[in-house]
Amino acid sequence: MYKQIKIFDTTLRDGEQSPGCSMNLREKIEMAKQLERMKVDVIEAGFAISSPGDFQSVKTVAETIKDSIVASLARTTTADIDAAWGAIVNAAQPRIHTFIATSPIHMQYKLNMKPDDVVEQAIAMVKYAKKHCADIEFSAEDATRSEPAFLARVFEGVIKAGATTINIPDTVGYTVPDEFYAFLMKVRELCPALDNVDISVHCHNDLGLGVANSLAAIRAGATQIECTVNGIGERAGNAAMEEIVMALATRRDVYGASTGIVTTEIMRASKLLSRITGVKVQPNKAIVGENAFAHEAGIHQHGVLKNKETYEIMTPESVGLTTNNMVLGKHSGKHAFRSKAKELGFELTDEALEQAFARFKIIADKKKVVYDRDIEALVSKESVQVPKTFQMDSFVINSGNKITSTAVLKLMKDDKTIEKVSRGDGPIDAAFKAIEKIVGIEMKLEDFQLNSVTEGEDALGDALVKISVGNKMYSGRGLSTDIVEASIHAYINAVNKVLYETTEKEQAV
Ligand code: KIV
Ligand code: ZN
Repeated sequence: MYKQIKIFDTTLRDGEQSPGCSMNLREKIEMAKQLERMKVDVIEAGFAISSPGDFQSVKTVAETIKDSIVASLARTTTADIDAAWGAIVNAAQPRIHTFIATSPIHMQYKLNMKPDDVVEQAIAMVKYAKKHCADIEFSAEDATRSEPAFLARVFEGVIKAGATTINIPDTVGYTVPDEFYAFLMKVRELCPALDNVDISVHCHNDLGLGVANSLAAIRAGATQIECTVNGIGERAGNAAMEEIVMALATRRDVYGASTGIVTTEIMRASKLLSRITGVKVQPNKAIVGENAFAHEAGIHQHGVLKNKETYEIMTPESVGLTTNNMVLGKHSGKHAFRSKAKELGFELTDEALEQAFARFKIIADKKKVVYDRDIEALVSKESVQVPKTFQMDSFVINSGNKITSTAVLKLMKDDKTIEKVSRGDGPIDAAFKAIEKIVGIEMKLEDFQLNSVTEGEDALGDALVKISVGNKMYSGRGLSTDIVEASIHAYINAVNKVLYETTEKEQAV
C-alpha cells in the first residue's frame, strides 16, 4: 500500500498572480474544471479579498467544482477570513487557507509585529475561521527562514485552535533538499501534534529546487504538496505539479507514495494553461515540454525502436500525449466533430460547439488533413471564449518590399460593419493599427508570436498576441491556415477580452 499524497494546486492563486499569467473569469473556470478532471485534491481558487473580480472568480469556481476541495487564501484578519468564507460558502468542500509570516525578517520588516503577537494572532484567527468552516489550513509564510522552535510553538497553538492542515512554505525558494528534510524532521520532533494533521509544503523555485524540495518533504512526512501547472508562480515559479506527480509515479520504489492525479490529463492541463495565458513552456521542460519525449540522436532512436525502455522512463501516453493521428475532414459532420472533441476530453456547450465547428469547416476546407492537435487547438480556444463583441468580417492587405503596407479591415459589432484603413510597418502591423482605429481603445502591442500547430506546408498557424491596456495585460489567440488571418483573429480575441473584463468589473461592483 502506497502512502497517499494530496495535491493542492495553486495555479489560480499563486500562479495567476505572477506576471503575464492573469486569467479572466471564464478562463479560471475552464482551468478549474480541468483540475477537477485531473482529480486534484485541493484547488486554491484565489485570494478573495484582493479585488471584487477575485472574489467573484473564487465564488464561481467554488459553486462550479464538486469533486475537489476549493480553498480561498486569507491573511490572519477577520476581514480577509470573512471575504474568503463569503466566496466559498457554497462550495461542496470549502477550505479557508489563512497565513501569517513567522521568520524574524518578515515579522520585523513586513508585519512590524513581535513574535508573541504573531502567535496570538495566528491562534485567534484560526479559531475565528473555524467558526465558519471545518477545514482550515494554516501557513507559516517564510517558514524555512523561521526558527524551528518558534514554528513548533505556532503550530501547536493553531492545531489546538482547529487547523487541519499545516503548511510549511519555502516562500523565497531558499532551502535545499537535505536541509529541508532535516528542518521538517526537527519541527515534527518539536511539535508532535503535527502527526495528527496533514503536513503540507509549498516550495518556490528560485534555485530551481522546488520539485526536489517537495520530494524531500515527502520523505520527511509531508502528506500534501502545493504546486502549479507548468510551475507558474511568483518570480521563478512554484514546484511544477506534473513533475511531482510523475516523479512519484515513476519512482514509487524510492518514495513509496502516490497521488490520485489522472496523469493522462497532464498534457491537456499544460496546454490549456499555455493557451489561456500565452505563456509557453520551454521545449526541454520536463514532462510537458515539446521535446520531453522526442528522441533526436540516431543512436537513441535506434535503441527506442528496439525497446522503448532503453531511453524512456515513462511513456508519452501516460501523460496524455497522443500520436498525431489523422482524424476528420471537410465532409465530417457536427456529430463526428462533437464526439472527437469529447474523445479529446472537451465537453462543449452548444454555443461553443457551434463556433468551433464553424471554424473547423473553414479550416478543413483549406487543409488536406486535420489532426487531433488541430482539433484540440480549435476546441480549447472556443472552450475559453469570451463574448465576441467584435468579429472579423473581411480584410484586404496590400503589401510588398517596396511599398508601405496598407490594411482595410471590416469588423462586425452588433450587426453593424465598421471599416477602417491603416498603413503600417508590414501587413500585420497595418492590420493591427486598423483594428485599433475601429475599437477606439488605447492599447500597446507587447508580444506577438506565430507557431504552427502541426508540421507540414498546410499546417494551421497559431498566433498569440499580448496587448496591454493601462498596466493590465491581455492575451489573444487566433488560428488559421493563413498567418495574417490568424494574427488578426488573435488581436480581435485580445480586444474582446479587454471588453469582457471591463463589463465583468462593472457587474462585480
Ligand atoms: O509562498 C508562500 O509562502 C505563499 C503562502 C501564502 C502560502 O504563497
Ligand atoms: Zn507561494
